[in-house]
Amino acid sequence: MPYIKIPKGWDIPENQVTPESDYMNRRTFIKELGIAGVGALSLSQWSPDAFARPKDVEGHLAAFRAKPLAAEHNSQFTVERPMTAEVVAATYNNFYEFSSGKHELWKLMEDFQTHPWQLEIGGLVNNPMTLDVDDLLKHMPLEERIYRFRCVETWAMVVPWIGFPLKALLEKVQPTSDAKYVKMLTFWEPDVAQQQQNPRLPWPYVEGLTLAEAMNELTLLTVGIYGHILPPQHGAPIRLVVPWKYGFKSIKSIVRIALTDKQPRTFWNTLSPREYGFESNVNPNVPHPRWAQATESMIGTRKRYPTQIYNGYGEAVAHLYE
Ligand code: MTE
Repeated sequence: MPYIKIPKGWDIPENQVTPESDYMNRRTFIKELGIAGVGALSLSQWSPDAFARPKDVEGHLAAFRAKPLAAEHNSQFTVERPMTAEVVAATYNNFYEFSSGKHELWKLMEDFQTHPWQLEIGGLVNNPMTLDVDDLLKHMPLEERIYRFRCVETWAMVVPWIGFPLKALLEKVQPTSDAKYVKMLTFWEPDVAQQQQNPRLPWPYVEGLTLAEAMNELTLLTVGIYGHILPPQHGAPIRLVVPWKYGFKSIKSIVRIALTDKQPRTFWNTLSPREYGFESNVNPNVPHPRWAQATESMIGTRKRYPTQIYNGYGEAVAHLYE
């Protein structure tokens, strides 16, 4: 399959990357959870750290750019906003297994081993499998899609993912007629991911979709970003991207997918069901109990946009909720 090189709108000069400062953040959520439990949570602001960008981040990214992925660009998915700079997306992440901070994950995770990596798919399926992710990459037709991505914390980005529809994998394992949900789990390695030693958090990270959501054309299993393999902080070697739902549904570094007949208990929903619903579709009209969801701010530029219902993907997904 041809590798189509798309213009690198994300390679913006350093001086155009402005500080992130005023987002709601769940660092405090986790911190307060450690101290006082869910009942004591209060509205808290993202502390105004400067967007300190260590000089060696370019060297870090160069290692991944040296591993390009052949993928056909799918021009069906266009986004009217400017692409987020690669360096911004790579240095502003959520990966609570490693830290509740955002800016240092790229550095903290440099030793996280993501190859070889096995992905198990089982539960209510006729054809369970355990696959090596490197093999999977060779056998699935990879495509590049530019999606809007909206975090529940009100920040947003536009990035080019590389992957394949989850549907393609589900068709191979053949869900049985009893299967209604798709449950996904991140690795559990408390020696490597220090935050997993916190017994108050319901590790491993679990997310889930209804089978119909999982089979939707937009639901992408992702193995690359910006033309190359995923860096660890984005969820290497394989993560989910569900663009019409808040970002916490897009589970990273998946080791197991299980088809079930019951709605799975998920990480954030277990911690605070009132704040993080199982469905969690992007909806500007339903505020989070502690902040509004009507607008969003792009990481890097801080340009603010009105949030769209289903993050602008209603045409493809609204029918799932009628
Ligand atoms: N997956 C795991 N395993 N652990 C996490 O902490 N954070 C989620 C999601 N997937 C998270 C996760 C949240 S809250 C968001 S917004 C996105 O990952 C962030 O993805 P990014 O860092 O690639 O931008």
